[in-house]
Formats: sequence, C-alpha cells, structure tokens
Amino acid sequence: FILSWCCLRLSYIFVRVYLTDSKYPRFTEKFFTQTLDHFNFNSMGNGTFNQRYLVTDQYWEKGFGPIFFYTGNEGDIWEFALNSGFITELAAQQRALVIFAEHRYYGKSLPFEKDSFNIPQISLLTVEQALADYAIMITELKQQLGATDCPVIVFGGSYGGMLSVYMRLKYPNVVAGALAASAPILSTAGLGDSRQFFRDVASDFESVSSDCTDAVRGAFHQLKELAESQEYRHIQSAFALCKPLSSAQDIHQLNGFLRNAFTLMAMLDYPYSTHFMGNMPANPVKVACETMLGGSDLLGNLRDTAAIVYNATGILPCFDLYSLYLECADPTGCGLGFDSLAWDYQACTEIELCYESNNVTDMFPPMPFTEEDRRLYCSKRWGVVPRPGWLNIQFWGDALSTASNIIFSNGDLDPWANGGVRTSLSDSLIALNISGGAHHLDLRGSNEADPVSVISARKTEADLIAHWVKMERTRLQKFV
Ligand SMILES: *[C@@H]1O[C@H](CO)[C@@H](O)[C@H](O)[C@H]1NC(C)=O
Ligand SMILES: *[C@@H]1O[C@H](CO)[C@@H](O)[C@H](O)[C@H]1NC(C)=O
Ligand SMILES: *[C@@H]1O[C@H](CO)[C@@H](O)[C@H](O)[C@H]1NC(C)=O
Ligand SMILES: *[C@@H]1O[C@H](CO)[C@@H](O)[C@H](O)[C@H]1NC(C)=O
Repeated sequence: FILSWCCLRLSYIFVRVYLTDSKYPRFTEKFFTQTLDHFNFNSMGNGTFNQRYLVTDQYWEKGFGPIFFYTGNEGDIWEFALNSGFITELAAQQRALVIFAEHRYYGKSLPFEKDSFNIPQISLLTVEQALADYAIMITELKQQLGATDCPVIVFGGSYGGMLSVYMRLKYPNVVAGALAASAPILSTAGLGDSRQFFRDVASDFESVSSDCTDAVRGAFHQLKELAESQEYRHIQSAFALCKPLSSAQDIHQLNGFLRNAFTLMAMLDYPYSTHFMGNMPANPVKVACETMLGGSDLLGNLRDTAAIVYNATGILPCFDLYSLYLECADPTGCGLGFDSLAWDYQACTEIELCYESNNVTDMFPPMPFTEEDRRLYCSKRWGVVPRPGWLNIQFWGDALSTASNIIFSNGDLDPWANGGVRTSLSDSLIALNISGGAHHLDLRGSNEADPVSVISARKTEADLIAHWVKMERTRLQKFV
C-alpha cells in the first residue's frame, strides 16, 4: 500500500486542472458530522468529528438512480476520486449519484485535528470504526438527499476494495453489492505466503527479460560488497545521496528505499503515464528495465531506475534517504506525511503485512519482516501488540461462500493480486482476471491504451452491478 508519497502540492494542482475541465466530474467537497466512537457510549459520549466526502449528482436520476459509494482508503479522498474514472463513467451510464468518502484519520478527516496521531487519540482508527462511519454516512445522506429507495453499490481499490468487501459482509442491509478491485483480503489476514508479494514484484521485471532481473540482482550484489567493506563514500556518490552513510542501518534504509521504487513501478505499471501516488511514465516496468540495461555501470543504472520514481519531477539534486522513504510496519511502503502514520498504525494493529524479500524467490536483498519483528516494532512505536488472526476471524478469511454480490477483480501485473480472491466462489461472488492489468486498472477511466481485458472486465462489472441494482429495487419494494 502506500499513498501520497508524492508531494501534495502537485496533486492539488491536478485537482484544479481536472475540475476546470468539463469532461471531468464536478465533485462538491462536503463534511459529515460523524460519531467519534461507534462502539463505546461512555468513552467519547456523543462526540463527533468532521468527515470529508465528495459528491456529484450530475449523472443522477434524482430519487431513483442508484448510489455509487467509494469506500475511501489510506489517503486524501481527492486522489482516489481523480483516479477512479470508471465509477463516474458507469454513473453516467446507470444514472447514479456518486459519493467518495474519506477514511477517518486520513486527508482532512482527522478526528482530533493535529493530536489525531498521538496515543491514545489514534486508538479510534480501526477497520470496524471506518465501516460504521460509512454505514451511517450512507444511511443519513440517503435521507438528506431524498434517496431512501436508491440501491447502494460500494466500490474500492486495494485497502478500499477490502473495505467494500467488508461493507457487503457486515452491512448487507445498507449495501447491495461491492466491486472490490485489487483487494488483498487474504494476504492481509495472514493467509498465504510471506514471500508472495516481492516474488510477484520481481516476476513483473522478469517477464520483461531475465537480463533485467539479473542486472537488478547484480547491482544489489555490488552494493552489498561495497557495504561489507564499508565503502560508504563510494556508495554515497554512486547513489547521489545527500547525506553520508555510516552504518548498517543506513544501508538497510538504502535497500528499503530502492526496493520500494520497484514495488511502486510494479503496482503502477499502467500502459499510459499517470499521476496517482506520484508521477509514473507509461509502462514503468519496461522503462525501468531499459534503464537497468542502459550502460555498464550497474550501480548508476540502479540509481537512475530509482530516480524514475523518486525524481519524476526532475528537481532533486540528490536523494535524502530518510525523507523519501519511511520504514514502517508495511514493508510495501507507508507513504509519507500524516497518512503514513495512520497506515503504520493500521499495519500495527489489524492489517497484517509481514512480507519478506529474500534474494531467492525474488531479486531483492534479504529483508525479513516476521511477526516477531512486527510485534517489537509496533510495541515500541505505538504501544500496541498486533493481533494476527483477528482480521481472519472478523471478516471471514477465505470462508466467504455464504456472502453474495461481490466482484473480486485483479490484474496479473499487480503484486497484490495473489493476496486476493482469484477464483469465483459462487454465482454472485465473481473473480475477474485482467490480463496486462496493474493495481486496480479497472477502476481508472477508459483510455486508448487500455488492454482488451480491462474493457471486457468493466463490461462484466457494469452488467453485474446493473443486475444487483435491479434485484435490490425488488427487495426494497417489498417494504413499500
Ligand atoms: C451530547 O450530550 C450532552 C449530554 O447529554 C448534551 O448536552 C449535548 O447537547 C449532546 N451533544 C450533541 C451534539 O448531541
Ligand atoms: C533529478 O533529475 C534531474 C533532471 O534530470 C537531474 O539533473 C538530477 O541529477 C536528478 N537527481 C537525482 C538524484 O537523480
Ligand atoms: C544474492 O544471492 C547471490 C547468490 O547466493 C549472492 O551472490 C548475492 O550476494 C546475494 N545478493 C544480496 C544482495 O544479498
Ligand atoms: C485468474 O488467474 C489465476 C492465476 O493465473 C488463476 O489461478 C485463476 O483461476 C484465474 N481466475 C479466473 C476467474 O479466470
């Protein structure tokens, strides 16, 4: 996961550009008075906070069309709204009201303002509280907007996709169906193989060419040898680092920083350039491999490959290791800024992300992250002991067959894909494969460079959603 490691100022510029273009949805930004603590009547009494959401009724058949509700994940809600064009395209087709809700503790939805990330104020950041926020927001906004009879479909990508699955499991009275794009509901519940994630990152590069992965391995090998002989000066200049290195910890940080660049390029390997979680060229994995094979200086090639991610703006004179990458309880990255604190806390509590690289099943230096490592880090950082297995009990693990109306879509380029549901579990629990698709490509707006697989996945999704909306109308009419 990651999010908004790119500079926020840039994303605001994009917001403005998009909003002035009439082709793009005209969202109105609003705040909802939300209950602070849904599960304890004493601790916070009837305390509330302002939860941000974006809404547009420009496509809506008022009072009748469905509601498409995005269950916001770990970041500024504008970032998701501006990178999920499929939802508004579908809303135009199916005449839906569209709402993008921001997750508590992210973006501007901070329950305790600047104190939100203190202990104990952070303790109201749980998946369960976030789901209850959405259930209450949906119910009250339906009243306010004259939409009480309108079926609700939830959408989400990545952790947001997990939330949309959980909404359907937990509140089927409120939501009629869920599109969960690239939702790793199994791996984050501790089900699966801790080597899977970085293995699948590496295999994206391997499928460009094995020379590419050999070059990456070779560069990390050279770095390791220089580190072993403590040639820190040499390493600093080879990688254009702002500050001198002086310890094994600094080398570890450098390895994490480099590995993270490959992770992001694999996740965001879209066929056209994007401004989601930073700026990426079209087909970044291919660009990275061209860069890795660009000359005989392997370390220089590795530095330039990292620069695709960290220096996309071309304004960094050097890399400041500890400010461009934060090590945290999520080895796939927590991003930067306040959002990274919130995500670190979630990775320390309910969301399990004990993924390792090992230089055998993947091309990265061995960087283990065991349950024990996680426990030590989390008790020190947040004063919490993670509860492995809780998510698995609370949200059904892989025993989902009694649920209904959920689409699990995954792209084969996405390292998160194999942490999710890959085969259909029933007539209404549908797995879709998107060949040539990266992280929730299907949620993005249509583009000339889209592979046919995503065009056809979106069509299937549209048909299923239209069907669920119809079924839900029938169900609701029984009560009239
Ligand atoms: C919260 O509860 C207190 C005590 O009952 C009451 O005085 C206050 O008006 C309530 N506030 C809200 C926002 O409902
Ligand atoms: C960032 O990009 C600029 C422009 O290409 C280049 O001059 C600079 O050396 C790059 N910085 C790093 C650290 O790669
Ligand atoms: C990866 O494994 C190879 C083969 O054992 C070894 O030569 C190399 O140094 C290792 N690389 C790293 C970064 O540990
Ligand atoms: C999707 O691809 C995976 C991995 O290749 C495969 O195991 C699975 O059966 C496929 N699922 C569908 C619905 O085609």
